[in-house]
Amino acid sequence: MIEMNQINHQFTIGKKGKERVIPVLHNIDLQVKQGEIVAIVGRSGSGKSTLLNLMSGYIRPTSGTIHLAGQAVTNMSEGEWANFRLAHLGFMFQSFQLIQSMTAFENAELPLVLKGVGVSQRKKRVMEMLDQVGIADYAGHYPGELSGGQQQRVSVARSLMLNPPIVLADEPTGSLDSDNERQLLALIRHLNQDRGTTFVLITHDEQVASVANRTITLKDGHLLTAAPAKGGIHSYEAH
Ligand SMILES: Nc1ncnc2c1ncn2[C@@H]1O[C@H](COP(=O)(O)OP(=O)(O)OP(=O)(O)O)[C@@H](O)[C@H]1O
Ligand SMILES: [Mg+2]
Repeated sequence: MIEMNQINHQFTIGKKGKERVIPVLHNIDLQVKQGEIVAIVGRSGSGKSTLLNLMSGYIRPTSGTIHLAGQAVTNMSEGEWANFRLAHLGFMFQSFQLIQSMTAFENAELPLVLKGVGVSQRKKRVMEMLDQVGIADYAGHYPGELSGGQQQRVSVARSLMLNPPIVLADEPTGSLDSDNERQLLALIRHLNQDRGTTFVLITHDEQVASVANRTITLKDGHLLTAAPAKGGIHSYEAH
């Protein structure tokens, strides 16, 4: 589902003529199968978010190739990436990135609008999803009228709206209390078992790592050897 081959990444900072190169990722080879939940751990600055941003297409690797869902994404144009993301990727972030002037319903509805889904279908699917994340009663509320945990649920509902086969999450429970964290982890497990959704989760949290089939560690931009898979990998219908 996700294949990274010999990925190197460096950032260049500073003014022209005084550029400084910061090498961040070194010779990363990583394969994630469909239906796997993989946790990425490592110290602050080890390159975790950079690795996820490469999988998301928000940055391009300095060298190496990336395949997602069987497609070579490394050289896609911005427009091709945008379409690819809409069809294949869901995102969960520590900050919720909701649009403040839109209600919970409207925020969750956005991907369906982008996809051109009709009004009545949208209403049905948004309410089902808000219900699934336990926030249907707050559909008409604006983000400013919701707690952190409730905003996170809206953000999660939005990211799952198009049923993405791959979800990329950067510390998704980082700002949640333990109750909300437990519920989000239960939802992740459920989606993984029910729909075969593949997850890559960056985390500092052992609770989060415990839902993973496999934990990989980044150290100073190098991938350390993976721990053996837990529970095996199930086969799922292709999306
Ligand atoms: N846009 C950028 N320009 C320059 N350097 C960057 C940029 N983004 C990240 N870096 C550097 O790359 C290194 C890895 O950063 P990254 O955000 O991937 O770490 P991380 O493992 O996610 O850390 P954390 O756990 O603190 O989120 C850091 O040294 C960081 O300063
Ligand atoms: Mg990070």
